Amino acid sequence: MPENKMFPRDFKWGTATSSYQIEGAPTAGGKGPSVWDTFSHIEGKINNGDTGDTACDHYHLWRDDIGLLKKLGVNAYRFSISWPRIFPTGKENEPNQIGLDFYSRLVDTLLENQITPFITLNHWDIPQGLEDIGGWTERDIVHDFVKYSYHVSKHLGDRVRNWITHNEPWCISYLGYIEGHKPPGLINKWSKSLATAHHLLLSHGMAIPEIRNNSKQSEIGITLNLNTAIPASGSTYDEDACRFFDGQFNRLYLNPLYNNEYPDDVFEYLKTKSLISESDLNFIKQGDLNIISTKTDFLGVNYYSRAVIRNEEIDEKNNLPRNVDMGPKTDFGWEIYPPGIYDLLMRLKNEYKVQNIYITENGCSYGDGPNSEGKINDKRRIEYYLSHLTELKRAIEDGAPCNGYFAWSLMDNFEWAQGFSQRFGLIWVDFETLERIPKDSYYWYKKYISANGLDED
Ligand code: FCB
Repeated sequence: MPENKMFPRDFKWGTATSSYQIEGAPTAGGKGPSVWDTFSHIEGKINNGDTGDTACDHYHLWRDDIGLLKKLGVNAYRFSISWPRIFPTGKENEPNQIGLDFYSRLVDTLLENQITPFITLNHWDIPQGLEDIGGWTERDIVHDFVKYSYHVSKHLGDRVRNWITHNEPWCISYLGYIEGHKPPGLINKWSKSLATAHHLLLSHGMAIPEIRNNSKQSEIGITLNLNTAIPASGSTYDEDACRFFDGQFNRLYLNPLYNNEYPDDVFEYLKTKSLISESDLNFIKQGDLNIISTKTDFLGVNYYSRAVIRNEEIDEKNNLPRNVDMGPKTDFGWEIYPPGIYDLLMRLKNEYKVQNIYITENGCSYGDGPNSEGKINDKRRIEYYLSHLTELKRAIEDGAPCNGYFAWSLMDNFEWAQGFSQRFGLIWVDFETLERIPKDSYYWYKKYISANGLDED
């Protein structure tokens, strides 16, 4: 094996963002309210009462941001479209031209700068008008999503080749309906949570042919947040809990997409706990799984950390002691575990036979800000990226079909329920003045990708 290892030629190097987290301008150009506009204005939902009303004001500063991408040297950029900029309530028959034009200019300018756009159609900020009539829990929304996908791909599909239908369905389904940290903020509503997951997956499958038809030679995929889960000890309690976690987090999405089936053990477990009844699964109609498992061109994977699972229902004194050594944590409290990205990619290759993967997000939150000279020395972020990219490279050498990597995120932004308190950017943003200052990690990433990840001597 050669000493100096690089990533494959034509590897996509990018950064990622999402509309609500960076755009601001919540009513500009006829945009309707999204669920995040509503949720962030409910008292007590967001740390410090922050909202995305201004965020990074990317809606007005997008040219500067593309300039920063250009200087960074990326050849790809993943961003999302704000659905209510295109369909303000979700129910209009025709799209809002001003919204389409905004993204059209963005796409043109990216292409002029040799940056390939990767578009996410749903990064959570759906029209409030659709939420008001049940949102993802109702089957009707599938048609609204297909209509939206059709119009966006019709308008941009001549220039955009890479399409992601949804970002992290688990977050919408679980954090929205079980934990309540995200809209609509409900707790322990398992039947709604599962219906949400199903309708997201179904709309993904139904949107694929529409996008393909409008955007010839396109690559269409979905982005899942996945991780490697291990039990905190060898007890059967922890092993059972870990199996359920892996089921509801990973397999609930991977199995229907790749194996045309739902993982029965997840439903059985929920029934045993009386969290759902058989009739709660009536939203699964004949033929749905065939649509969900429509062949995609890639899987987008967001990886941040692994999950070490302890059975919380068992009294600590009745369980075996934890026997997993935990790594250090980022400022968000997420464990840093670089081999997890290797394990995950090998599982996707071996167990699900996935043939094309993009890491659509990977990154870390650290609060490091400007020093007295105005420089941001975020050494820990550089270490995080380097260690994960090294593991990614190892997975590729071992046959994992990964063709691109998107650092989360281009710049500090509105981190959902955490507001502006968690900074994931390669670029520092002063949320008062909106000044952008590249961090040391930005310059490091620039160097790393310009050498295509060549090992340093
Ligand atoms: C992911 C989201 C992204 C960002 C990162 C930190 O779950 O897709 O928008 O918030 O986490």
